[in-house]
Amino acid sequence: MDLNEVIQQTEKMLAGEASSNGVLLEIGLEAGLPRVNADRIQIQQVVINLALNAMEAMSEQSAENKVLRIRSRRANDKEAEVSVVDSGTGIPSALLARIFDPFITTSAKGMGLGLAISRTIIEAHGGSIRAENGTVRGAILRFTLPFAAA
Ligand SMILES: Nc1ncnc2c1ncn2[C@@H]1O[C@H](COP(=O)(O)OP(=O)(O)OP(=O)(O)O)[C@@H](O)[C@H]1O
Ligand SMILES: [Mg+2]
Repeated sequence: MDLNEVIQQTEKMLAGEASSNGVLLEIGLEAGLPRVNADRIQIQQVVINLALNAMEAMSEQSAENKVLRIRSRRANDKEAEVSVVDSGTGIPSALLARIFDPFITTSAKGMGLGLAISRTIIEAHGGSIRAENGTVRGAILRFTLPFAAA
């Protein structure tokens, strides 16, 4: 499938949620990415999970710090990378190592399953997912997916 096309579809699904949260959604897609072998619905699910987490983390920020960036790029010869970058609270450092484990949550309404499910999906596709904090603020979640064999 075409990863950029899937991100564009996901953007449409997220547009309403972003605007009702006052979040500016910025999409940056690298042109000419090779296709990946993946299930479109599952990858949409991952991007939505990451984006909803990001919006939640920005809910208390001022307007200029409510920007959600979703980007695609060629990570190397073998893989595409999607990054979801926010300007929210960042991930508490004590949680960083366990954030993909099930039932880890700081949210009153969350189950702590979104990232665990996302990791399962990405690893089942031969990719990897990781989290880090931005240098100034916010979190960066990235996942890779291998290019389909030519
Ligand atoms: N972008 C982010 N910025 C700050 N913290 C984050 C971010 N993404 C995840 N987290 C932290 O990781 C925890 C786990 O995220 P996860 O998506 O697995 O569960 P959840 O969002 O709490 O609940 P669920 O996704 O099941 O509704 C969150 O509760 C939050 O503490
Ligand atoms: Mg979540």
